[in-house]
Parts: sequence; C-alpha cells; structure tokens
Amino acid sequence: MTRPPLLLPGAIARLFPSIPLDRFLAERYPGQLVVEDGPPERLGELGEARLFDHPLALIDKAFEDQVVVYIRCPNGRTQQISVDRPTAKRLYQNGHTVSIEGADLVLPLVRTWAAALRRELGYAAEVREVALLLSPPGDAVPMHFDGTEVLVVHLRGHKRWQIAANDAIRNPDFAYFPDEPNGIGVRDVVGASDRSFEASFDWPGEMPATAHVHTMCPGSALFVPRGWWHATHAHDATVSLTFKVGARSALSLVLDALSRRLRCIEAWRTPAPLWGPPAQRARVQTQLRALLAELPRLLEPAALATLLDAPRSFRRCSGARFAVEPPHPPGRTWALVVAVGDQRQSIKVDVDPDPLCQILSVASGTIFESDLQAVLPESSLAGVRALIDRLVELGVIEPVGEDGPDR
Ligand SMILES: [Fe+2]
Repeated sequence: MTRPPLLLPGAIARLFPSIPLDRFLAERYPGQLVVEDGPPERLGELGEARLFDHPLALIDKAFEDQVVVYIRCPNGRTQQISVDRPTAKRLYQNGHTVSIEGADLVLPLVRTWAAALRRELGYAAEVREVALLLSPPGDAVPMHFDGTEVLVVHLRGHKRWQIAANDAIRNPDFAYFPDEPNGIGVRDVVGASDRSFEASFDWPGEMPATAHVHTMCPGSALFVPRGWWHATHAHDATVSLTFKVGARSALSLVLDALSRRLRCIEAWRTPAPLWGPPAQRARVQTQLRALLAELPRLLEPAALATLLDAPRSFRRCSGARFAVEPPHPPGRTWALVVAVGDQRQSIKVDVDPDPLCQILSVASGTIFESDLQAVLPESSLAGVRALIDRLVELGVIEPVGEDGPDR
C-alpha cells in the first residue's frame, strides 16, 4: 500500500454522493439514518486495498488487547469476549465475528479517513475510534444500540443490516446489548458502575417489526444515529469499518467545561472520604454541601465562557498559492512562500512546512487548528498558533465565523 494522503478531501461526498456535505450536516447528521450504495472505486484506495481481502492478516495487525470476538453461545445469545490474536483467528475460522478496535491506530489509510470525517463532520477531536469488523458467513453482531453516532463503510462481501428507531430512549449516551449481562459489552465494562438508569427501561427482546432491512455491498455507506437498534447477518465473508463519529451533547460539553474549571480549585480536588468513621463522614458531607452551594456561581455562562466556543477553525482563502523553499544552507530555516493576488510573502519556519502546504492546497472545507498541529508535530503549540496568525494576517486562511464552519 502506498503512503496515504495527509488529507483526504470530500470524504462524505464520496460516501454519500447524492447528498452534498452542507445538506448532510444540516439535515442528516446526527439524527437521520442514511444509507447509500455505490461502487467501491469511489472510495479510492480504501475501496481497492488488497489488505482487506485477508481477514486473518488483518487480525495479525491488531494491537494485542484490542480484539473483541462476538461468540455465539449454546444458549442462543451472542456475547463479546476479549481475546488474543491467535484465538481471534481460530474463532473467526469457526464462524465468529471479530472486531479490531482502534483500527485507525494500526492502519494509516483508515486513520486518514477518520481524520477526514472528523474534519468534515466537526465532531469532537478526541472521538476518533474506528472498529474493523470481520464477519464469516452467519449471524454477526447481535441486536444492540450504540451510545454514539456511527458511520459504516462496507468493503467486502454482503451483510444484511436490520435497523430500527429506539422507542424507549432517544440520544442515549450509553450502548446496550440485550444479550450481555446488564446490557454491557466487554468494551464498555470499564467505567460502567451504576446501571440503574439503563435498567429502568423496558427494552424489547427482539428487533422491532418496523426495522429497516438493507444489504450492504462493497462500497455501501451507512450512517446510524446514536441509540438506533441494529443487528447484522453476513451472507458471505465480510469486511467493514465502523467509524464512531459522536456528536457532542450539551451534557458532555458542560461536564467537560465544568471539570476543567473545578480541577483548578483546590477544594474540589481534595479527597472526600465518605467511607470513614461517622465524624469524618459528617465533616466531608458539610464540605460537599458548601461546595455544591458554590456551584451555581461556577455554572454561570461567563464562568464557562469557553463552553460556547466552537473549535478554532479556518477556511482557505481563494487564490492563495504556496511553495516551500528548503533550508539553504542546510540546517537553517525553511521558507514558506505564499502568494495572494500579486503579493508574495516569505514566512520563515523552523520545521518542514511541506505537510502544511499539502493540507492548505487540497482543503475544501473546514481546517481545524488541530489539523495543522497534527501535520507539524515537531512544532510547539505556540509555534503553530503564531504561524496560523501569520497566515490569517496574509490572507491565506481566514477564521470561520461565529455562525459555524463554512460547510
Ligand atoms: Fe453498533
């Protein structure tokens, strides 16, 4: 496989050619089910890469602790287990579906697609998980819903999907697998504690009769909103990618902002041993009440100002051109030469700016500050920001306004 591009333009347009990106964002993401079939060639190298013809070789590429198998048990349930790679290969050959978690970390081409989807959809930078699903013929993943939006790209074979809206809850922030103890799959068991909220629902025992049925073929793309029930059955050996493209909720935005605020305050970091003797417990309870009394002030919008900020993002100004002049003599700084109209400027930079030029040359939509940091890993955050400010000053890129990214 050749080296994947640093930036893949038009990922959503390739997956869903009938829906322009701005309409996808305005009307479909994150709440509408979308499916579109089409030739795998439109996916470029992702659709044609030969490595997806070899499931066992793909398992060998997985991180050792990132392989999950869906085991069909004698009691009729299908449950997840974490296994090592040799066991996963054996179970795959015995007809069980294997999920390689963190596929973006081991397959550069998948990482490029994940970055492109993140940039186009604008979802949280920290959510960039991709699972590579390898299913032999037969029932694959049992009925469940996910606590995040997912985008599925089907690469090999044919798989039947049943998908249904969830009448019990909308926009859950948790996954639920009825076949698993307490509904928790092995991937979600870490951090799961009080399940009383999840247990308070009357979950259906089987897929709702209203379920959509769609057979995914090589090249098919599917967007599933969070919380929708789905179950899959492979007609033949299949390979597909599941990109978790979680949209941020008000809950996660506020909790993150509040957490950042509270961790700066010593009293909130202090251990609160409610498990101690009665006198100690009473003292901690008094302290907690005092802290909680302070919360309304900390939750005022002015105190959480950054909460309302969109990720810092930019778009390329039309007509800007770029070139790199290597250090001369070697060891000195590079020059990033930009031309806007008949103005030509040279910016001295101490790292190779060629990856930056590539991004700026092909970017057709939003460019996040984190995109630019990612391609200049040897530069400090302050250095990248200074460079961005200079590019804005020269009219090469412009900040995306408060109305949101230009999509
Ligand atoms: Fe799922």
